[in-house]
Amino acid sequence: VRRNTVRDITKLKGERPVVSLTAYTAPMAAQLDQYVDFLLVGDSLAMVLYGMESTIGVSLDTMIEHTKAVMRGAQKAMVILDMPFGSFEQSKEQAFENASRALRETGCAAVKLEGGAAMAETIQFLVERNVPVMAHIGLRPQAVHVMGGYRTQGKNQEERAQMIEDAFAIQKAGAFSVVLEGVAEPLAAEITEKLDITTIGIGASPDCDGQILVVEDMLGYFPSNAKFVKRYAEVGQVIDQAVKQYADDVKSRIFPAPEHTYHAKK
Ligand code: KIV
Ligand code: NA
Repeated sequence: VRRNTVRDITKLKGERPVVSLTAYTAPMAAQLDQYVDFLLVGDSLAMVLYGMESTIGVSLDTMIEHTKAVMRGAQKAMVILDMPFGSFEQSKEQAFENASRALRETGCAAVKLEGGAAMAETIQFLVERNVPVMAHIGLRPQAVHVMGGYRTQGKNQEERAQMIEDAFAIQKAGAFSVVLEGVAEPLAAEITEKLDITTIGIGASPDCDGQILVVEDMLGYFPSNAKFVKRYAEVGQVIDQAVKQYADDVKSRIFPAPEHTYHAKK
């Protein structure tokens, strides 16, 4: 199988919605591979996998190891590494140093980074040097400390004007796509219509060019009560029942049974 490229993703605009999910591990990537156009190794793993309170504490080294695992697990999906807090904001040179390292060491095809107009110069610097960039505006989890929490964006005129300015700046800088997170209707529709590049929504309405969710959220394996998460399964409950049964079986010596037991030859 041939792995999807940035071009394969971008040419879907106007044709059909782009399908994407997060993945952090090889087995999950393998399981999602045939259904998604791309997989994002999101810095949300800080919370979902590592139990941290925000995405602030995750390192580039950690992101690189998980992206290697996802690349091993998925053969068809394009894989994108999410640049963590502190790895790209200081200067465009710092961003290139770290983004190029991400591509070199993992084999992934693109990076994502949070920020709009303020990151345009950095995005242009990366794209001119052959690092494809997906931007991320609206609710930016890495800005949690300046925003004082997580709030849906685009609810007032000032925020809307800023986000449209950000979107155009990102496009002009050469990003191939942009994540719109936590954006109130009808702003995502307006941005998607005005931009030539691919918009990927999360909590941003069905009018985006594609959708992404954190896979553990939609599987019911992470306690999210966000309105935008549709729970397609209750994997947490399945695990709970299985582990409870195992514990009961061990205590009552039902497990292991003869068929789980090795015997020496007579
Ligand atoms: O870190 C992440 O999982 C993300 C997506 C939700 C867009 O940034
Ligand atoms: Na992220």
